[in-house]
Amino acid sequence: MALLSVITAPDARLKAKSLPVDGVDGEVRALMDNMLETMYSAPGVGLAAPQVGVHSRVIVIDIAEKDATPEPFRLANPEIDWASEETILCEEGCLSVPEYFAEVSRAQSIRLRYLDYDGKDRELEPEGKLAACIQHEIDHLDGVLFIDYLSVLKRRIILRKLIKARKLQAQKIPA
Ligand code: NI
Repeated sequence: MALLSVITAPDARLKAKSLPVDGVDGEVRALMDNMLETMYSAPGVGLAAPQVGVHSRVIVIDIAEKDATPEPFRLANPEIDWASEETILCEEGCLSVPEYFAEVSRAQSIRLRYLDYDGKDRELEPEGKLAACIQHEIDHLDGVLFIDYLSVLKRRIILRKLIKARKLQAQKIPA
């Protein structure tokens, strides 16, 4: 397994739409494993392939508490076919938008179909935090970031700060 580098906003690669995978082969499984390792080491609770520069519809998630048994999800071609009208507000963050958190309204429960690690067709009906997290990751596959739900002004401020932080990082002289 290998750690992948995570792209931070603003970046055109985060705005591009990802394509479905033909199936879950060794290459897709390796991508899932590397993404999961990258997510755990960040640490984060979810990661989508475009965040590591791969425009395939693959996401990984684990919302288990820090010291609890890991509960990893590796999903390919996730597709939401039902969403509740009831919504929840969740405080969201994103490895591509480091150090910013904001409340986003999401469907409280959803039903989705996806291909699992073995390429099998699966169905899942998550609710609450897991449902919100899956919606956040699927958004990435469509080029949508959680800050896109905020006001234009708020988003601009965040992006400007991220650009500034990136410039400062680039100026740092390696020790
Ligand atoms: Ni994200």
